Amino acid sequence: MSYGVCYMHDLLNHITKFIKIILLSVLSVFFVSSSNAELTVEEIIKSRQALFSKNYRTAKKVQSLASNLDFEDAILLMNEMSENYKVLIDLFPENSQEGFDTEALLTIWDEKDDFNALMQKASDDMINLASVIEDADDIRGTLTKFMWSNCKACHSRYREEH
Ligand code: HEC
Repeated sequence: MSYGVCYMHDLLNHITKFIKIILLSVLSVFFVSSSNAELTVEEIIKSRQALFSKNYRTAKKVQSLASNLDFEDAILLMNEMSENYKVLIDLFPENSQEGFDTEALLTIWDEKDDFNALMQKASDDMINLASVIEDADDIRGTLTKFMWSNCKACHSRYREEH
């Protein structure tokens, strides 16, 4: 083999590698951007509504478990609700303000920091609730203070009358 052929061969190898790298980069950019756009607006609105409904069912279970002094199970559900609120914070992107029967008020996006802070408070309060419920004298009052009052505080300001 002459030196010239060998050189051409190397060059071709390099070019092929280069093309492979470019193709891979293009593909990965494509995959990353398509995973960000994974959820449609409808899916975002439906999933936040489903999660609120789930929290409502869970809150009622928390109430009945705690009232029956079954604190262990009640505390597990309190932690679950706390986590759900954190997921909810990310389910109000700019493009999900309207449509698909949302009851979310536009003020949410005017006051996004306040709204997020209320959601975070609701989440933190479930952890606080878990730490005080066993020693609480007034179980009903404690549930109202750390759980139900947060629903009302947020709905009265950020959710349509229904
Ligand atoms: C920080 C704000 C916030 C907190 C805290 C909050 N919610 Fe909501 N909730 C909303 C908003 C906003 C909607 C409207 C969502 C939509 O329709 O897109 C909603 C909707 C709902 C719905 C209707 C879901 C559906 O199927 O349309 C229920 C039920 C609900 N919330 C229950 C609760 C309960 C119970 C609590 C407390 C344990 C609570 N929420 C706490 C803001 C909040």
